[in-house]
Amino acid sequence: MGAITISSTSLSSNLLLLLLLLLSLKEGYVLGRRQAPADSHQLQHSHTVHVSSLLPSSVCSPSTKALDKKSSLQVVHKHGPCSQLHQDKASIPTHAEVLLRDEARVKSIHSRLGRKPGSSDVDETDAAKLPAKDGSVVGSGNYIVTVGLGTPKKDLSLIFDTGSDITWTQCQPCAKSCYKQRDPIFAPSLSSTYSNISCTSTACSSLTSATGNSPGCASSACVYGIQYGDSSFSVGFFAKEKLTLTPTDKFDNFLFGCGQNNQGLFVGAAGLLGLGRDQLSLPSQTASKYKKFFSYCLPSSASSDGFLAFGDGGGLSKSVKFTTLSTVSQGQSFYGIDVTGISVGGQKLSISASLFTTAGTIIDSGTVITRLPPTAYAALSSSFRQKMTQYPRAQPLSILDTCYDFSKYSSVSIPKISFFFSGGVEVPIDAKGILYVNSISQVCLGFAGNSDDTDIGIVGNTQQKTLQVVYDGAGGRIGFGTGACS
Ligand SMILES: *[C@@H]1O[C@H](CO)[C@@H](O)[C@H](O)[C@H]1NC(C)=O
Repeated sequence: MGAITISSTSLSSNLLLLLLLLLSLKEGYVLGRRQAPADSHQLQHSHTVHVSSLLPSSVCSPSTKALDKKSSLQVVHKHGPCSQLHQDKASIPTHAEVLLRDEARVKSIHSRLGRKPGSSDVDETDAAKLPAKDGSVVGSGNYIVTVGLGTPKKDLSLIFDTGSDITWTQCQPCAKSCYKQRDPIFAPSLSSTYSNISCTSTACSSLTSATGNSPGCASSACVYGIQYGDSSFSVGFFAKEKLTLTPTDKFDNFLFGCGQNNQGLFVGAAGLLGLGRDQLSLPSQTASKYKKFFSYCLPSSASSDGFLAFGDGGGLSKSVKFTTLSTVSQGQSFYGIDVTGISVGGQKLSISASLFTTAGTIIDSGTVITRLPPTAYAALSSSFRQKMTQYPRAQPLSILDTCYDFSKYSSVSIPKISFFFSGGVEVPIDAKGILYVNSISQVCLGFAGNSDDTDIGIVGNTQQKTLQVVYDGAGGRIGFGTGACS
């Protein structure tokens, strides 16, 4: 910069300032140019995250990107400001509680799918808490949709769950027990389209595969019972009713559980919408119209919303790429998916693809944190840590062992992470899907390892945020599109 020599006495101070400004701009420009290759490399392989954006706001700001709202249902987080169930702060679980329940759900999925002999991390007390025959499982990272049931139609807020099959709601007269819910409890006696299912019907006997329990019979009415991995359950009459999904999409004779004895972590919600693959699930019961095709987008935070759309008419985001839907042995309700690799900051982890094929992987809307074979998780977390060395570490949060303290930063740069699925499909995870935030001083990598490389992997709902996840049951494929909701 010796080329310009300025004698300050010969210039007015204004002009001097201007020159200094120009000089600093010029210098900045040169520096910027010099750094450009490194910058764009970094930009390409990292997310810049404003730390203030990591915490959900206390007001609901609905996504502006959602699909045609007429043909899709709004999806909200059960505990966020967009949910009408959001009223009682005391009932909102802490993140540590959410992660503990998530672990119960995962253990339950693993026990349902049958563990290979020799693996034994379920201790006596845990095993005692888990029913031997889990019909399915419920965690607490729950997303809610509202559907209409009966004639006249009553709106019910249900947890939607791709990991279970039967749909149920609490029903009057709550012969044994109903927990507190926000909507009025469904009263079959006030609906002209309700009818019980008889014990001898094939619908009644198909409960065995959908719930893991054989049905009961009470004065010739079919009785279902389903228990979940965390000792939650619902028992009641198996019944038929008119289901209204959207103003144009209505289904007569939808089979559902009219719960007379309900307990567990569903509190606030009226019940559960089963989106699994068994014949009693909603996609199976509506297959003649939707061909088992549905998609959803889970919002990036509890203060935004997403959508759940049925059928392929609702529109697919342009970026949707499909991979093969696979089947999991002993788990016909689950959506299997073939993970082939993971990249961190643009670099593929050097782990063998057979690691994933050995264990298998499912995608689940109800599991919060993605579970990987421990060998894969070790490679992922080590690579992530190497790229995050500039940030101070924080205490582990429950099952999450790679945490950072961002309290001294206004923005941070985190490596991008992508999943690779069979067919060469790369799915980039949203920045909000990489981090699980307890507080600004404890922000964790939102992945965890299974306890054994033979346990099935699970793509959890944190990593699905803002993606359009497309389930094409008839076409045998699963698709992912980016940026489908905010
Ligand atoms: C359904 O069955 C139960 C048990 O027998 C009975 O109490 C109830 O009235 C029945 N409902 C209808 C609409 O038939």
